[in-house]
Amino acid sequence: MNWAVTTYDTAFGYVSAHGAPLVDLLDPQPGEKVIDLGCGAGAFTAEIAERGAEVLGIDGSPEMIAQATALHPGLSFAIGDAHCFTTSESFDAVASNAALHWMTRDPDAVIARVHEALRPGGRFVGELGGAGNCAELIAAMQTAWRVFGLGEPELPWYFPSPAEYATRLEDGGFTVRLLEHAERPTRMVEGPDGAADWVRVYARSALADVPPEMVGPLLARVNELAAPALRRESGWVADYVRLRFAAVRKPDGSAPMPEGPQL
Ligand SMILES: C[S@@+](CC[C@H](N)C(=O)[O-])C[C@H]1O[C@@H](n2cnc3c(N)ncnc32)[C@H](O)[C@@H]1O
Repeated sequence: MNWAVTTYDTAFGYVSAHGAPLVDLLDPQPGEKVIDLGCGAGAFTAEIAERGAEVLGIDGSPEMIAQATALHPGLSFAIGDAHCFTTSESFDAVASNAALHWMTRDPDAVIARVHEALRPGGRFVGELGGAGNCAELIAAMQTAWRVFGLGEPELPWYFPSPAEYATRLEDGGFTVRLLEHAERPTRMVEGPDGAADWVRVYARSALADVPPEMVGPLLARVNELAAPALRRESGWVADYVRLRFAAVRKPDGSAPMPEGPQL
């Protein structure tokens, strides 16, 4: 995915802002080695570093890594695809904010790479779009595309249900400690053109095959269709639904049987 770096980080900085409490779930300790997977421009990476952990931000976009390096010169960043990255050392934790739902090619491969990067007992903590995320926005897009005689818009995301993602984590060698699936209506604070701006930033790939002269009217129709559900007096609100989890890499081999009284 080719990100519009400047637009993303200035106009839609709320993606980073909403990740803030995730650092508490991760609870990085001084000296711990942590990966921030899909780090983008590095805002969440910097929060982890502030807790004293040694953090490596990994992102598939060279533009994002360039931006992150410029904004946080003291931190380590690397270009890498989450489906196939490797590390030369074991990490204590892997964290990921608002990125796993963009890694659509093979979610199990991403989980396998995270597993490989962690020491036994290491933590995998993340937040991503969950089942039902942006349902109104997506419905408005699908209707508008149909009205304009276009095929189904190609949507670049993977929004799993909690049951599905828990199964993937367990099958991938993790014990799930916490899993939340919650609605998180989120103000589109900066974009003046509501749902249309949202599509331009987050669903740009769906616009790739749309004739340029059709884009304006098509997005105006998306706005009309989405407005009844998402436009409030105070402004536009995105119908976000988030999946948040904390999992632990299972120890290698079978755990010894504890001795003591029976329950
Ligand atoms: C919405 S941004 C989130 C960035 C950051 N975590 C934050 O909280 O602001 C999603 C990021 O995932 C990255 N990404 C998407 N697919 C990826 C992949 N397969 N491997 C690595 N990074 C990927 C994108 O380049 C983008 O920077």
